[in-house]
Amino acid sequence: MILVTGATGLNGKAIVREFARQKHQVRALVRDLNRASAAGLGGLAGVELVDGDMRRAETLGAALDGVDRVLMISTAAQDMVETQCRFIDACKQAGVAHVVKFSGAESNIGYDATKFRFTRMHEEVERYLEGAGMAWTHLRPSQFMQVYLRDAPTIAAEGAFYLALGGTELSPVDVEDIAKVAVRLLRDGGHEGESLDMTGPEALTMSDIAARISQAIGKPVRYVDISPQDRRRNLLAAGVPADFADALDEQLAERLRRPKSRVHLATHEMFGVRATPFVEFAQRHAAMLRGGA
Ligand SMILES: NC(=O)c1ccc[n+]([C@@H]2O[C@H](COP(=O)([O-])OP(=O)(O)OC[C@H]3O[C@@H](n4cnc5c(N)ncnc54)[C@H](OP(=O)(O)O)[C@@H]3O)[C@@H](O)[C@H]2O)c1
Repeated sequence: MILVTGATGLNGKAIVREFARQKHQVRALVRDLNRASAAGLGGLAGVELVDGDMRRAETLGAALDGVDRVLMISTAAQDMVETQCRFIDACKQAGVAHVVKFSGAESNIGYDATKFRFTRMHEEVERYLEGAGMAWTHLRPSQFMQVYLRDAPTIAAEGAFYLALGGTELSPVDVEDIAKVAVRLLRDGGHEGESLDMTGPEALTMSDIAARISQAIGKPVRYVDISPQDRRRNLLAAGVPADFADALDEQLAERLRRPKSRVHLATHEMFGVRATPFVEFAQRHAAMLRGGA
């Protein structure tokens, strides 16, 4: 049996849906069964929903029973290391053979992972998992294309989005590509002891991204460069907690120092997954980017 955690989240949901699309059985861990149904996970063929809390081994008996392979995802939050290390302990205790850690790797060339707390935390969990005595694989995507959907309201209302990245490139990857890779990896096994980095197919400045959104929705879209201070103010005004804004400041500072981004498609190629170009991603979400959904 395969277990996917973080199933109500952005990637977990896409991965569970991809299992259902392939008619392959999967178990999905959720903290709240009502929320899971609201998230559209109820009634998917072959998907067994089980509740439990990754931090509390005593709640995970049913979720981990008979499981060989796990995909471990949890929220990027201050408690991520504690959550994932306690969950690794529970997997070991339950006799899981192989844990795939959903991690992250910045695509910027020369990026110092120790400068951003979440890449630092991912590396800490990766080391813990490597020492836990089970087979492991790290799946390490770069920035998700879906991050730009947060800007859909201003793109729809003003034909613009506001960030502080200057001419910095990023190589965002489509979560649907990650889901296809994750399902093949979990379904077929192998790749023990490997770190699998993934980016999207193009290194793009924010002006490039604006041009692609514009092409996809048939309306002019501009990128407006603002100061890091104004960006932080916007984040806080949108309700982002101060400690998360601090983390994003660290990430931004390091991205600005390392403005060139690499493209790494070896993982897509290894699993026979076509890398979705940004314009296709934007076409798929055109209704939302036009303000219609
Ligand atoms: N943003 C990016 O561009 C980017 C790029 C690469 C990697 N990453 C990494 O990707 C990961 C996040 O992926 P995502 O965006 O798909 O996740 P997400 O949407 O933030 O969802 C996180 C999931 O984890 C679950 N969860 C958290 N704590 C839990 C616990 N104690 N027990 C059970 N479930 C728990 C949440 O459940 P509830 O619904 O119950 O809260 C939710 O389903 C992070 O580790 C992040 O660092 C992000």
